[in-house]
Amino acid sequence: MEFVRLDGERLTLVFALEVGGGADLVYLGARLPEGEDLGTLAASGARGRHESQPDVPPVPGLLPEGKAGWSGTPAVRLSERREDSCVQCATDFRLSAWEQYLTELTLTFVDDLLGVDIEHRWWIGASGMVCTEASITNGGGRKLVLDRFSALALPVPRRFTHLTSFTGRWAGEMREHTRPIAPEGFARTSVAGKPGFAGGNWLILEDPASGEVLGAHLAWSGDHDTRIDPDMVGSADGRAVLQMGASWDGGEVDLEHDVSYRTPVAMFALAPDRSTLAQVFHAHARAILPHRDAWAPRKVHLNSWEALGFNLSEEGLMRLADDAAALGIERFVLDDGWFGGRRNDQTSLGDWFVSPDIFPNGLGPLIAHVKSLGMDFGLWVEPEMVSPESDFYRQHRSGALHARDRERPTMRGQLVLHLAHPAVSDAVFRQIDALLREYDIAYLKWDHNRDLFPAKARVGSVRNSQTEGFYDLLDRLRAAHPKVEIESCASGGGRIDYGVLSRVHRVWPSDNNDAIERLRIIPAWSQFLPLEVLGSHVSPSPNPITGRRLAMDFRAKVAVFGHMGVEADPARMTDKERACLAAHIALYKEWRGVLHAGALHRLDHPDPDVTGMMVTHGDKALALVAQTAFSPVFDAAPVRLAGLDPEARYRVTLPEPWPPRARHYLAVPERWRDGLVLSGTALMGQGLALPLTHPETAWLIALEKLS
Ligand code: GLA
Repeated sequence: MEFVRLDGERLTLVFALEVGGGADLVYLGARLPEGEDLGTLAASGARGRHESQPDVPPVPGLLPEGKAGWSGTPAVRLSERREDSCVQCATDFRLSAWEQYLTELTLTFVDDLLGVDIEHRWWIGASGMVCTEASITNGGGRKLVLDRFSALALPVPRRFTHLTSFTGRWAGEMREHTRPIAPEGFARTSVAGKPGFAGGNWLILEDPASGEVLGAHLAWSGDHDTRIDPDMVGSADGRAVLQMGASWDGGEVDLEHDVSYRTPVAMFALAPDRSTLAQVFHAHARAILPHRDAWAPRKVHLNSWEALGFNLSEEGLMRLADDAAALGIERFVLDDGWFGGRRNDQTSLGDWFVSPDIFPNGLGPLIAHVKSLGMDFGLWVEPEMVSPESDFYRQHRSGALHARDRERPTMRGQLVLHLAHPAVSDAVFRQIDALLREYDIAYLKWDHNRDLFPAKARVGSVRNSQTEGFYDLLDRLRAAHPKVEIESCASGGGRIDYGVLSRVHRVWPSDNNDAIERLRIIPAWSQFLPLEVLGSHVSPSPNPITGRRLAMDFRAKVAVFGHMGVEADPARMTDKERACLAAHIALYKEWRGVLHAGALHRLDHPDPDVTGMMVTHGDKALALVAQTAFSPVFDAAPVRLAGLDPEARYRVTLPEPWPPRARHYLAVPERWRDGLVLSGTALMGQGLALPLTHPETAWLIALEKLS
């Protein structure tokens, strides 16, 4: 047995490797001192055999299989095609070699009888994120089919007894559920052909005694399989195994001679608390996000969707652009409805030419107008889709995903194009490429409003899958138009993952722009994604989805914490509302350098109706504290800040405008205007008593460290 350690800045992984046997992770925790005896460490965590176990108790290790009596789900499952049947194979993979290079470890496993080998790579990124990926190659002569193959199989240290998983639906993404890991385990498989709203590709394990957390994710924009198999019947050593991988229900992977399949990357981070966990994820996201110009602030958007819907005209859009510019908007995004015969959501996807009915002279005049107002121009597209009611479909009927000789059920009146097909992908590429060539378009909002049913991949391999086809199309367009920024939208948060995030600049967290809903949705996403990629828009009031009316001050303050935009028509606002919105847009511009580069901290508050977030960066910090319901007590508990230097002194101000009602309850307004000077210790310990009595009240708190 050999022991190998991989060290990140703050963590260590210790592997126990037995060539000819298995591979296990015997330590996952805070960085160990140099010289730690790894054999002794492994012995201290090992369990002896107990009654009613196989004579050699199975260790699930990094490649769990059923061969030695482990009761959980295997990380790899293969079948063999015979004459007219497919028979599941008994596998026995043994570690054949390993190689370490700095913070990277490659393990090779071989099943001699099948002639199949697996290469598993583990590495620690500069962010502290632990990443894994695996590939499997059939070097033997059998006609194999790969039924499942995990990118990650992690024996979970026993201290992580609790689990936070996420569920969601359209307009209600990322609902958190925290509970003990159930004895029967946990399993989530998506079938929509994308991660979907249900959030099964994100997970947090927790040690409730210390607060230590482990956050895990699969960087893949197709279907996923996430599961935890606890050692329920005590067949192994008591550890649960967490697995993540792509799933391909509806397609299959043929693994014929010399064919390989590579998993997407799975990743996990370890941290002493939720805020630190978020910071590791954010550092990783910032490392993989597509490159933008050196100092390219995230521009304030105005998006036409909730302002005008399908009610588009060149004149109306020019008027909207005028009003947008007057607020300080920097990018004007023309949403759905500009192309083909698209006057409602039942038609014309696939016909990506500018509608002559709305724009008799093309998009040129509108774009010129937008640019003359100092804004750049963005456009909505949904390239992977086709409406049966479109010229494109009439010409490329066979290009839509379908089950042969079956009905083609639609969703939102649309079908999905089979992007793994080069001819189909080329046809889409040509249309979008032509638009980007002809017009000065700085940004694409790339939508995906349909699940992939009934068929996901008609060809016999996920290597040729829809998801790979999507990545290829996106990559080709990005290569041809490297300056164009892209947002991943899928009816809101239906396709958010680190696979797409390495190709786009922004994601759309939810179609729900109601500020109260966003106070749940943004903090939930921001555990994994930095604020700069989370589109955060001020909605109209009443909100078109929830019907709720909210004051502009509240809507605007909430929208500052993200990549800010406006989804409403300024012409329908009062003068006061417009002034309030413009003031918050100015605040966003002033603070985005901090919000989009700093460290995010969650602010815990005893009242569940108070939400707080704070970003620290260099000498500056900005916090958002929002009260949603009527407080049960008149004096809500003070807001305790986080992430400050306890010894340093800070000037604290409350950026104006102040919330209209709550401002009257501020004890010493003039002192707040000048700024209070307090130590980090006082701010994080005693906190600040802010008027948080009324529902729908939000405050921004600005801090500057004094030298
Ligand atoms: C989806 C998006 C919305 C909007 C509409 C347009 O629902 O999530 O933001 O773009 O499509 O049809």
